[in-house]
Amino acid sequence: MRDALALALASMVGIVPSAVPEDACSVEDVSITWGFKESFRSYISSSIANGSWEVSGDVGYEIPEFTFTGGSGFLTPDRSLGEVGFTGGIVFSGHDGILETSLQNPELVVTGPREATLVLDVTGDTMEEVSVNQPNVDFASVTWDGSLETVDVDQGVWRVVDAEVTLTQEGSEAFGTYPAGEMLDPMSFTLSLTPGCLEEAGPSIWWIPGGVVAIAAGLSALALAIRRGRK
Ligand code: HEM
Repeated sequence: MRDALALALASMVGIVPSAVPEDACSVEDVSITWGFKESFRSYISSSIANGSWEVSGDVGYEIPEFTFTGGSGFLTPDRSLGEVGFTGGIVFSGHDGILETSLQNPELVVTGPREATLVLDVTGDTMEEVSVNQPNVDFASVTWDGSLETVDVDQGVWRVVDAEVTLTQEGSEAFGTYPAGEMLDPMSFTLSLTPGCLEEAGPSIWWIPGGVVAIAAGLSALALAIRRGRK
């Protein structure tokens, strides 16, 4: 049942069914908050660009962040592979229509443990006067530390707060102005999946190096004591 639902949802967001792992969990609810880039929003609102932005579909805006809700997709129980797609997007405009950049149909693609890619359809002219009309741009890399994520297995809720978002090379070429690696605003997301489908977060391993050192020190102290006892 779980697989069938995940497959059905995956096909809704345009994923090839064979790409969805058999044990995938269905995304039942999702909310992403992301400011895109604070300095860009300031620039658009300033008297320089004298612009604004409009949102549509699953994308909303509540100062100071865009929200992506109502998307669908899947996630593997270990959270290392998944995809959640949305309709609609953001259109930034300014400079009396010279600036009109459209970012549509966002998809958050989980590509590994603690990393994802934000994929967008990008249309518009860059400040360097390059016309862009490119679907499925791997726009930004999203990464997070284990301390920023929580998993509630019983409720099926996975939350990541303030993940780091950086512009990719492809994103830089499509959007212009900013170089690859440019820091965008942090992103937070909450995915609600079939309750009980997610695995527990792996044990924290920060103590392993310290533990190994402590055990090694204990063993050498013991060996020394035995040697002294024999003398
Ligand atoms: C009439 C055409 C344009 C003029 C005169 C213009 C002018 C400027 C100026 C003066 C700045 C510096 C703002 C500051 O430092 O506060 C700027 C920044 C910027 N412009 Fe334009 N621009 C134009 C078109 C565009 C277009 C078409 C884009 C496409 C997206 C664009 C994207 C940007 C970006 C991303 C920044 C950096 C904002 C930031 O993060 O500080 N501009 N522009």
